This record gives sequence, structure tokens and C-alpha cells, in this order.
Amino acid sequence: MDLQSRVSSEFTQRHGSPPTAIVRAPGRVNLIGEHTDYNDGFVLPMAIDRAIWIALRPRPDRLVAVHSLDFDETAEFDLDRLEKQAGWIEYLKGVAWALQDAGHTLAGFEAVVAGDVPIGAGLSSSAAWELAAARAFAVVSGFAWNAAQMALLGQRAENKWVGMNCGIMDQMISAAGLADHALLIDCRSLATQSVPLPPGVVVVVLDTATRRGLVDSAYNERRSQCEAVAKFFGVKALRDVTLDQLNGKRDQLNRTAYRRALHVISENDRTRQAAEVMKRGDAIELGQLMQLSHMSLRDDFEVSSRELNIIVECAEHQTGCYGARMTGAGFGGCAVALVRLDAAAAFSAGVAAEYEDATGLKPNIYICTATNGAEVVPGANE
Ligand code: GLA
Repeated sequence: MDLQSRVSSEFTQRHGSPPTAIVRAPGRVNLIGEHTDYNDGFVLPMAIDRAIWIALRPRPDRLVAVHSLDFDETAEFDLDRLEKQAGWIEYLKGVAWALQDAGHTLAGFEAVVAGDVPIGAGLSSSAAWELAAARAFAVVSGFAWNAAQMALLGQRAENKWVGMNCGIMDQMISAAGLADHALLIDCRSLATQSVPLPPGVVVVVLDTATRRGLVDSAYNERRSQCEAVAKFFGVKALRDVTLDQLNGKRDQLNRTAYRRALHVISENDRTRQAAEVMKRGDAIELGQLMQLSHMSLRDDFEVSSRELNIIVECAEHQTGCYGARMTGAGFGGCAVALVRLDAAAAFSAGVAAEYEDATGLKPNIYICTATNGAEVVPGANE
């Protein structure tokens, strides 16, 4: 049974009648533009066919009561008494807090939720939770959906309620994704441009099966290193510094600061170029830009890991692979590869065998399609 049917039938069983609406919000994979979002730069992610699904119906009171099929657990909270606790319900609570704080009047609801975005793998299960929650509140409370606004509120929930200091990329693509397209997002203006995936290629996510606890502290450290260089140049963010300006001041920056900034500035250029080559349907160029991005993240930004480097090399050995790179925050989690459609099955088998040989770990490999962002599932309540 697919997730939509599962949340729907479980809802009916628990509450005696079908849900009045079903919403879903996807996870994401970033094709290129890594560690650029919090530098006001450019990213090029796509929403993937793995999502959080919520079947729901409004309640007349102020309670939000949700049963999670994945955790086999029911949790609830009162919209008038939001308190930070622990667990999966915090994503919904954090979004309720951010929405109310922004002036929205919310209604309570009861719901059944299930998802298939792997947790902690770097495919943004938390953004999927946040945007599914925002969609759910919009449906029951009757306010209009504005993707960028909802993404910002989802990010606020993540930053202030959950406590992870992320940029805007994950929430923005989960809110605004478009089927069969990646989205070039300007993380300063939040303007988006949809770009079609090149014909005859698939995007393959390669999960190294490693998770690093280090991510949060290293992520915050990278952010401050970037902010320090922006400050040195007297600009708002590294987005405002060109490669020539950076190189002109190279001798006044320490080696680490220079390399961090070099990654961000060159990655912004690669990301805009990637959108251009995608518009021409040029998978070869796109693959090369992804390879360069990986090298820059590995050598200059230093957020890759042994396993990520190995899986990227395994990918590049296979026939039909245009390019591969680590994706997301790094230090563990997933890489992404661009692969010829007719070679995808052999590619996946080849990477799995080579990677397991080299590391002893079994990777999870997903061939992904690009989906729409958060939405009310059409016709679900009919
Ligand atoms: C994580 C964050 C994003 C972004 C990426 C790195 O996924 O949540 O905001 O910074 O890392 O590109």
C-alpha cells in the first residue's frame, strides 16, 4: 500500500470517517550549490519522490492530535500552550509557534502521518515535516499558501524551535519544488527559476550509510568562517564578493578563510552555470560542474568524509555516470549522481558492489524523480 492510502485508511479506522484532506511535502536532493544558501548565494535542488504525508480533519477546539505510523505513537499539543519538548511532534509544534508568531490564527486538527524520507541521511526529512505541517495548518485554518513565506516560517521553526541553524534551501525546495524540474533559488531574494532535468538522465541518490554527529558544530563553524570573510570585505554576505576581489586580498586572509571563501564564491558561479547548461539539456557539462563542486567541498570547504569520497569515486567509475558529488551539509549522509537513464540499473549495482568492497558498508541507492513541493493532494477526500 502506498503512503497516501496508508495514512488515509488508518485515519478512517481511528476516527470513523475519512480525512477531509491529505497533504504531502517532499524531501530534497541538491544537484549543486552547497553551503551557499547561508551566504545569500545560489542553490539548485530538486524535490524528490520521498515525502511526509498527513491525513487530517479539523477539530473544533485548539488541540493538534497526531498519530505517527512510523513511530507507532500518538502525540498532541494545545495551540494555546506551546512548550518545547523532544520528539517528532516538535516539528509540528515549532511550525505552529512560527505561524502564530507571524500573526496567523490557527485551528486544531487530528491527523495520521507517515513518511519515507530517511531520517538523518541529508535528504531534509525535517524540512519535509515542517512544510507538511505548514500545509496542514493552511488547510484547516483557511489561509492562503505562499511558498516563500511558508519556507521562511519553516526555517524559523528549525532555527528557533528545533535549534538547527540551517539556511533556506531545504524549506524553500520542499515548499516550491516542481515536478521534472530542479529549482535555481536565489537565497537572497528567494526568486526561483525552474530548470528541466536534461533528457535521458536520472538523478541517483547514494546514501553512504554513515551519519556524523559532528554536523551541527562543523556547520556553525563554517557559517562563522564565511561571515568573518564577508565582514572583512565590508559586505553583507560572501555573495557580494567576486573571485577577483578575493584573490586581490589573498595575502591578507589566513589560508583557511581564503579556502572557505573560494569554495562559496566559485560554487555560486558553478551553480548559475549549471542552470544554464541544464536549459540546453547538456548533461555532460552539468556532470563536470558537479565533479568540480565535489572537489571544492572536499579540498577547500572540507565538509566531505572518507565514505563520501569513496562513493563519489565508485560512481565516477561506472559507465553512464556524468558526474557525482556529496550533497547536503556533508560529513556523512548522501552523494548525488547524474546517470544515463538506460545505464541506471547497472550503475546502481556497480556502485553498491564497489562501495561495499571498499568500506564494508551497504549503501542505500535511490533513483529519484523530481516532484512538486508541498501540496494538498488533489481529490484525496473524494
Ligand atoms: C543543510 C542545511 C542547508 C544548507 C546545506 C548545505 O542541508 O539545512 O540550509 O546549508 O546543509 O548546502
